[in-house]
Amino acid sequence: MHICRTKAAIRTTISDWRATGAPVVLVPTMGFLHDGHLSLMHRARERAGKDGRVVATIFVNPTQFGPGEDLDSYPRDEARDFDLLRGVGVDAVFAPDAREIYDPQAQTIVETTELARVLIGRLRPGHFRGVATIVTKLFNIIRPDAAVFGEKDFQQLAVIRTMVRDLDMDIDIIGAPIMREADGLAMSSRNVRLTPADRAAASVLARALDEAQSMAPTGITASRLRSHVRARLEGEPRAQVQSVDIRDAASLDSVSGPLTRPAVILLAVKFGTVFLIDNRVVHPT
Ligand code: PAJ
Repeated sequence: MHICRTKAAIRTTISDWRATGAPVVLVPTMGFLHDGHLSLMHRARERAGKDGRVVATIFVNPTQFGPGEDLDSYPRDEARDFDLLRGVGVDAVFAPDAREIYDPQAQTIVETTELARVLIGRLRPGHFRGVATIVTKLFNIIRPDAAVFGEKDFQQLAVIRTMVRDLDMDIDIIGAPIMREADGLAMSSRNVRLTPADRAAASVLARALDEAQSMAPTGITASRLRSHVRARLEGEPRAQVQSVDIRDAASLDSVSGPLTRPAVILLAVKFGTVFLIDNRVVHPT
């Protein structure tokens, strides 16, 4: 596995591969890898085929963290990450530092204007601008044929699909399903920062989503379903509920009446200082 620290090094490595015509598939991450990330690497390998190449990136992107968020305490373990990536057959990893990525004079941003300011974007102003800008830069540095993103970050995936459509980026965006712990908690690099009591309590997110999924085909309205989920989360005293939303799964438009199309339930809940998100697509029948 090639380990590249500079844009020049990763570009050279990839240009040799691209010359063969085989696809290059990218998986961007912020590291501290878990099985959710590794499932994306497997999906990328499938898409790349036996001649193609899989490139992972590890970069804790400062521009997507707001003031007072967890940039400094974001967990890191690069040596372990490299071992895990080697183990699943990744061909190259790009792991730059922030100075390599951002020019001190940088002034250009990429923003999905509407999508960036709703839902998580309202709770974390500037977050999706940071995500869209870094992902554009990674696309330009690596020039992949395809890129894989997790459905765990449902709105992030929508932001990336929207940006690719609006800016005519010729990259196939692949969504991959959410990987969960045995008690249902969605895997996240941030889970290690939960205290044992909060870690146990956090399984309420998955339970609330399971219930919502079984209630969805009963003819219930979106507003009632949302109230039910919120009440279920608020029944857990350790949970600080930040938001519960039900949106059309395809457009992310608001829905309130009886469900007629697939809808996504989006949760954002804090435990102590740890911000967790989860979601589930539910169907009316
Ligand atoms: P990060 O949180 O490290 O996640 C990297 C990728 O792994 C994302 O596409 C995310 O949706 C996916 N992922 C995380 N947890 C998952 C799980 N439990 N199951 C399946 N996939 C999961 O998302 C980011 O980094 C950054 O915003 C990034 C896109 C790298 C831009 O900086």
